[in-house]
Amino acid sequence: MKLAQILFSQGFGTRRTCEGLVWAGLVRHQGRVLDNPAEDLPTEGLVLEVEGRSWPYHAKALVLLHKPAGYECSQKPRHHPSVMSLLPAPLRERGVQPIGRLDEDTTGLLLLTDDGALIHRLTSPKHHVPKVYEVGCKHPVDDRMLASLLAGVVLDDDPAPVRAAACVASGSHGLQLTLTEGKYHQVKRMVAAVGNRVETLHRSRFGGLALPPDLKPGHWLWADATAVQSPLPGH
Ligand code: URA
Repeated sequence: MKLAQILFSQGFGTRRTCEGLVWAGLVRHQGRVLDNPAEDLPTEGLVLEVEGRSWPYHAKALVLLHKPAGYECSQKPRHHPSVMSLLPAPLRERGVQPIGRLDEDTTGLLLLTDDGALIHRLTSPKHHVPKVYEVGCKHPVDDRMLASLLAGVVLDDDPAPVRAAACVASGSHGLQLTLTEGKYHQVKRMVAAVGNRVETLHRSRFGGLALPPDLKPGHWLWADATAVQSPLPGH
């Protein structure tokens, strides 16, 4: 693929802007300045350096963000900054969007992509992709609550009960809850339905991907679409 086309596909701006980056000597490959926007390069395994930043070529982008509290997943946030502001401009430019949403006060693993088919596969209720949440509760957690969450609780917008795929206590006031759907405020509403209240909420896994322990809040990394779709250990 031609260099200018590669830069364009990765979100570095209009074709003219991408040519301008090359002419300005801001694009390197293996330490060499690339000065011809029409140069043909193989995209497989290609890592460019653009304005000093290493940029691996991805036909489709999939990134894993450690969402901090105080950010909204909406593209048009109302009260807090958008999670999109935590990503570099080329990812925003190429139309990356969150796969499902986390509430403003929820922390943890958020995936974002520009791959519409992947969004569909990972959010469609048909595919039962497990998401694991670490929940801090206001009141102590008891066996009755765990049993009800596993058996299914009825939420106010649907008579069909929603069940946790897995649910274990962690400490006196904690729960680890695995859900395979993604209804609006689902964890908070399920926990409220069994007479408790969510005080803190953190997502630790999405499908086959776990939040890396060394990834700081507000930081992101490239993720592997095959890994996210592989089964979660123990499910
Ligand atoms: N369930 C919730 O209630 N909030 C989230 O952010 C995610 C799941």
